[in-house]
Amino acid sequence: MSKPILILNGPNLNLLGTREPHIYGATTLAEVEAMCRCRAEKRGLTIAFHQSNSEATIIDWIHGAINGADGIIINPAAFTHTSIALLDALKMIEHPIIELHISNPHKREQFRHHSYVTQAATALICGLGVNGYPLAVDAMADLLEAGKAAQNS
Ligand code: DQA
Repeated sequence: MSKPILILNGPNLNLLGTREPHIYGATTLAEVEAMCRCRAEKRGLTIAFHQSNSEATIIDWIHGAINGADGIIINPAAFTHTSIALLDALKMIEHPIIELHISNPHKREQFRHHSYVTQAATALICGLGVNGYPLAVDAMADLLEAGKAAQNS
């Protein structure tokens, strides 16, 4: 039986819509969640959508995904650039992981150019604004379908 796709959002993303709108846009996180739910429904997936400003909480959600999810889409926000703990947690996940950023961190300050999370990620989407979220849901659906087709062949 299929399990949900976990969509995780890191610190400060709760303020999406008002936070540095020239970088992150005017769409709120609740609207992003609605976009993801709509796309997931079209692709026959269920999602669990979360945000936390706490590294520990995000790590606990990742642990829950070891047996409780078919994949993870994660915008780790600033933890991308700092958290070996998040990387270690993601390394335990055997399902696809898509790292997602609203902005393109590589065009920004030097300290955003390195991501710990990328080492555990199957794929990376960045620089497409919040449209990256439904694209990530589509990409996850494609990865899971490809995985099932490979298992059945
Ligand atoms: C971000 C990019 C990070 O560098 C930053 O710390 C964020 C958001 C993005 O979505 O573009 O909080 O992950």
